[in-house]
Amino acid sequence: MSNKVRVTLLPLNQSFEVEKESQLHDILFNYGVEFPCGGHARCRGCRIRIKEGHLPITDPQKNILDDKELNDGWRLACQGSVQDNLIIELDQWKSDVLSDDSDFQFLPMDGLGVAIDLGTTTLAAQLVNRETGEVLAVETAINPQAKYGGDIMTRIDAASRLEKQNEMQRIIRVKLNEMILELFRSSNENISRLKRIIIVGNAVMHNIFCGIDVASMGYHPFEPISNELEIYKPSELGWDFGEDVSIEFLPGVGSFIGSDILIGAWAKKVIESNGIKVLVDLGTNGEIMVGNKEKILAASTAAGPAFEGAGISMGMRAATGAISSVITRNGEIIPKVLGSEKARGICGSGLVDAISAYLDDGSIKADGRFLTGESIMVMDPVVITQKDIRELQLAKGAIATGIRLLLKELDKREKDVEEVYLSGAFGNYISKRSSRRIGLLNFPQKKITTAGNTALLGAKMALFNKDEINNFYQIRENTTHLDLSMHPDFTDVFAELVNFPIKGEMV
Ligand code: FES
Repeated sequence: MSNKVRVTLLPLNQSFEVEKESQLHDILFNYGVEFPCGGHARCRGCRIRIKEGHLPITDPQKNILDDKELNDGWRLACQGSVQDNLIIELDQWKSDVLSDDSDFQFLPMDGLGVAIDLGTTTLAAQLVNRETGEVLAVETAINPQAKYGGDIMTRIDAASRLEKQNEMQRIIRVKLNEMILELFRSSNENISRLKRIIIVGNAVMHNIFCGIDVASMGYHPFEPISNELEIYKPSELGWDFGEDVSIEFLPGVGSFIGSDILIGAWAKKVIESNGIKVLVDLGTNGEIMVGNKEKILAASTAAGPAFEGAGISMGMRAATGAISSVITRNGEIIPKVLGSEKARGICGSGLVDAISAYLDDGSIKADGRFLTGESIMVMDPVVITQKDIRELQLAKGAIATGIRLLLKELDKREKDVEEVYLSGAFGNYISKRSSRRIGLLNFPQKKITTAGNTALLGAKMALFNKDEINNFYQIRENTTHLDLSMHPDFTDVFAELVNFPIKGEMV
């Protein structure tokens, strides 16, 4: 008797056979399903719906899904194995990964280069012609380590307690090699012309890729063993192309300031500025850099997940079926849904817009409470609850507090800032107006620039000139990390900024 069973995925409409007893975790990861808590039945992020077939309800699922959800066929993909033929509706699937198409200045050089932004959640790589500056091909993907957890602390836990560091190193090196080869295949370029690869990422991504034990970043004072420049030849990474290619993983500052935000500050010329600049990178984490050519301060917060839809009752990534924006026209609040699907949830940019609109019409008060009731229906069946608003308040309050405290350390206020760059996987999509309305960025709109993927832009610029990159090292030298939680004013400033601005009192 055959031991194979058939699995069909909706709405992808893909059907394939797998061995009976196969773990859904292993099968579905290849189809874009992510496992934010690393498969520990804590986050609901891997929800799937069984349309036909049977997937047993286990105790961990009963703890996290309510009776209605279970009766409606919802299950946690991280908790099941396939017993018979299944038709599964995926609650999340492939969504766009932010790349970069900004113009930049460069001094022509020979050969080709590859710039890579190695993010906790997403990967982006570009093949660049160093003679013309032209981007010849782009590859994006979900970081394959995501099946071991969605955030860096879960990733550190998997590396140290579950002894998965070697495996996570192996799969990221394999994935990046595949992406590099695909860049050349899709562009019809000859890989023998490749001269240089620049990789940027946070300290945990750096250490896992480079084979440096990450355990020390899991407990106080969260310091990495090393976050220095690492240079490789392809064969040292198991990459099978010309040995004269230089592969450089750029350094960061300690645990919290990765080469990704540092190179973004370099790309935005913070080190050359007389005026104060602010760079806010909102991805899986929230990182902030504030300063000018004299001094730069940096801080990081765990603010990203709420902006990405995590921890929000009907939150989801910016994929088909997500409410991604909300506008108000003639007093009517109008949500926009990605794709032509019925609304299934709300992503970070939609949540920020919706709360902004409800603040404007008075349905939500400045302290975050509803004027009446326990929830608001944005669009059937998507509601936002009091707890969702609280989650967003905590996240935006942490970022706004970080900016205020960094400025305070420089003896400045928001009014002294010349320009604010909002970058990162989430930062790029949030509306400037809404970010001001909820008090995430307390700056005039004309000072705020949506800056795209500044990490990838910086990595691309670093492919060119060895002298220019000295400024990057200067930024690294001039950057001091501030532990926000230890700042004596943190509690007071956070208590002030966790509320929403009162209409009419906004800057
Ligand atoms: S509940 Fe978090 S990955 Fe399954």
